Amino acid sequence: MRLWMASDHAGFPLKSALKSWLQEEGYEIIDIGTHSEESTDYPFWVHRLAEVFPPQEKAILICGTGNGVCMTANRYPQLRAAIAWNAEIARLARAHNNANVLCLPGRFMNIEEARSAVLAFLRTPFEGGRHERRLQQLNPSQT
Ligand code: RB5
Repeated sequence: MRLWMASDHAGFPLKSALKSWLQEEGYEIIDIGTHSEESTDYPFWVHRLAEVFPPQEKAILICGTGNGVCMTANRYPQLRAAIAWNAEIARLARAHNNANVLCLPGRFMNIEEARSAVLAFLRTPFEGGRHERRLQQLNPSQT
């Protein structure tokens, strides 16, 4: 399975650790960047990813809090980005919100917590039904 990743400098250490682990698990990782801990602006990397990311696939975005990358990603109608800081929230982001982008707070999660959130994100299907109806109401003009 193919997986897309991007982060700013604050998310870089966790992105690197997750990337190595996911590659060992057999995932093909497309790492948009950043590629170091040199200070950089998180929107740049999210915009770069959004330009090429196929929305039927899955992406992981990481910044210090998860907020900046999530706010940027959700400017794109084809992206449904959710912040998760544990496995249950990641599971619900898939089951209820059909999130195709997982946003992690790199400065507030250790690698074990991040791994379990990522596994839940990757393994959980969307439940559909009433949750599909609610997703159809996300845009202000449609409520
Ligand atoms: C960078 O210092 C930090 O502001 C950024 O990674 C992110 O947390 C913003 O939402």
